[in-house]
Amino acid sequence: MPSDLPEQSTSIPRFGFSTRIGFVLAAAGSAVGLGNIWSFPAQVAENGGAAFVLVYLVLSLVLAYPALVAELMIGRYGQSNPVSALENLPEDRLWRPVTKVTAIIAVLMICLIFSFYSIVGGWLAGYTLAPLFESAMPDTASWLKTFAPTRNFVLAVAFIGLTLAIVNGGVQKGIERWSARLMPLLVLLLIVLIVAVMTQEGAEEGLQHYLIPDFNRINGSLILSALGQSFFSISLGVGAMMVYGSYLKRDANLPGVALQVCLLDTGIAFLAGLLIIPALFVALNLGVTIYLPDGHLANSDTLVFEVLPALFNNLGVMGIPVALAFFSLMSTAALTSSISMLEVPVACLTERGGLSRRKASFVICSGVLVVVAVVISSFDPLFSMVVNLTTGYAQPIDSLLFCLFAGWLMGRDRKLQEIQKGWPGVEHSLFWKVWPWYIRLVCPVMIASVFVLEHIG
Ligand code: PFF
Repeated sequence: MPSDLPEQSTSIPRFGFSTRIGFVLAAAGSAVGLGNIWSFPAQVAENGGAAFVLVYLVLSLVLAYPALVAELMIGRYGQSNPVSALENLPEDRLWRPVTKVTAIIAVLMICLIFSFYSIVGGWLAGYTLAPLFESAMPDTASWLKTFAPTRNFVLAVAFIGLTLAIVNGGVQKGIERWSARLMPLLVLLLIVLIVAVMTQEGAEEGLQHYLIPDFNRINGSLILSALGQSFFSISLGVGAMMVYGSYLKRDANLPGVALQVCLLDTGIAFLAGLLIIPALFVALNLGVTIYLPDGHLANSDTLVFEVLPALFNNLGVMGIPVALAFFSLMSTAALTSSISMLEVPVACLTERGGLSRRKASFVICSGVLVVVAVVISSFDPLFSMVVNLTTGYAQPIDSLLFCLFAGWLMGRDRKLQEIQKGWPGVEHSLFWKVWPWYIRLVCPVMIASVFVLEHIG
């Protein structure tokens, strides 16, 4: 057990992160994943390039960051799983059923996210393994890369199995170790690949598309997509950051830690876009079909899996090792996110239901497998429906509610005391002058307006 366990005791002892950087890397490990590398570039490509990037960056700072501080704070204050933390948050008992139901919905949503995430995580695993079979067993390599229900299911099961193995290892041993070692490698490889792609034909046009905004493209639906993408990428509104907050040391500076996680996550998304959008234009140049005649992406779910292999093939002999390294690091990033997803229901079942960690994770994974099987059996339209429901609606709306709960149901003094633990003197800071009002009013109103705007068009 680490020496810096939170002093506030609960009936069940909590694991802690041994170092501050360990926490930042683990929370960033939850944040950085398929959202950054699979869905962000596809959203950029679908929504007109730089205009989307700009709105995304602004929303991450002005909405996701303050909401992240609120979610981490609720978690650390509650020192328990999200359902208990939210249930016990209001001083007025009348509100407890409301906060509890919101938490239960959030936990169900994170299980749904875990199910579609495992399908994409499985594709990634397939692309990671394929280069190993390419010369000796080409049929296996092609099976691993070809979209089909059996392959989708088998690989999703493998991805869930890996997640299960890590979560059973416990917070400290599993999450911290994985995140801390591999994140810097991923950043390094992204930078090397960006340099490599820039030398190829078509890349410059891609770079312009990514960096020079066409403001006419900004409308309600672009803003809603950017909002959903930002909250998905920072793992908000489904209890993941709340659970991680509950494992955080009492003297950690919440606004500071949240800012680091936010910057790391958006930074890596930006880097991934800087690689994939130019690579997409290189692929277009090579004749790969990316857009339909109506301007929409031919296949946004699998865009990255079409664009990147085309890029790697272009790298000659280096193509295979680079593909292997890239897809392994991406799979790891996906795993450090999926372990945070599984951690949420597991924390609820162990702490509230008295189940062992092992049993709880088996129960959850079995349920998720059933959902995975249903989604795969009717991929079109179920897959995009689940993605849309969870990331487009549940995450922003739940996050809005968390802000309201932190803002209105948790008194100003309790909030101040919680934040002061890691930032003595915060009451004199600009942060404290702005943030409490911001999460009470500005965040909820802005999130709600995005939904209204989307309907107006
Ligand atoms: N933020 C993760 C990503 O960008 O891939 C996805 C995610 C993790 C969403 C954990 C929600 C969550 F609770």
